[in-house]
Amino acid sequence: MHGDSGPAGAQPEENEAIELYYDDFAPHYVPGWRSLEHYGPLVADFLLRTVTPECRVLDVGCGPGHLTRNLAPDVSVTGIDLSPRMLEVASAARPGGRYEQHDFHDPLPGSWERFDVVVAVGCLEFCRDLTATLRNLAAACAPGARLLVGVVEDRAVRAPGRSRRAFSDDGLPGVDMHCYDATAQLDAVTAAGLSPWSYRFVPAWRHDEYSYVVQYGLWELRKDPPGQ
Ligand SMILES: C[S@@+](CC[C@H](N)C(=O)[O-])C[C@H]1O[C@@H](n2cnc3c(N)ncnc32)[C@H](O)[C@@H]1O
Repeated sequence: MHGDSGPAGAQPEENEAIELYYDDFAPHYVPGWRSLEHYGPLVADFLLRTVTPECRVLDVGCGPGHLTRNLAPDVSVTGIDLSPRMLEVASAARPGGRYEQHDFHDPLPGSWERFDVVVAVGCLEFCRDLTATLRNLAAACAPGARLLVGVVEDRAVRAPGRSRRAFSDDGLPGVDMHCYDATAQLDAVTAAGLSPWSYRFVPAWRHDEYSYVVQYGLWELRKDPPGQ
């Protein structure tokens, strides 16, 4: 495997910086996000195709929960995030949802339900260990679950494996954005025991501070039932 060897362990100072940064964003994140995002329609299309009545949806790095808050009331939505204020906004917008502070680098509690649909976009920018994170998500899935995962892919970087670039010198100095090449992404998907259903290289969001468009390897994945 190329390069994806970073520690999954807790990085308290980095997590605290991310938490504070997104706490500040929480009240006005959604209007600002609309002007930056390209992946919103792709997420909406995925949810339209995969969410069925009464299914259990996990929104990873949910922020204010806007990607999944408007799903039908009989759908069970769980959002995880580092930022308590983001979780508060998400919870206020969908009072029937469950919103918990949780780092995606850590396994989800075994006492939680297993999920049928998982969305992890707009947050793996901060993923220090893609293999461990995808393993955590796979373990939280029910057999047959479908996942949409957006990983920052920086094709300008020539070195194979994973790379880093500044996330924001203005807002989050010292915190990296983590990028993985397509081979490292596939290695992580495979190591997590997930089946790739589709992969696209797509524009994800416009980085105003550095004037470029962040691009994702956008994966639809499945957790196959045992024996398949
Ligand atoms: C840019 S917002 C994205 C919200 C939403 N997913 C979207 O695409 O618009 C990124 C969110 O990821 C959360 N986040 C960053 N690192 C995380 C981690 N290790 N575990 C859980 N959430 C994390 C941040 O707190 C923030 O709310």
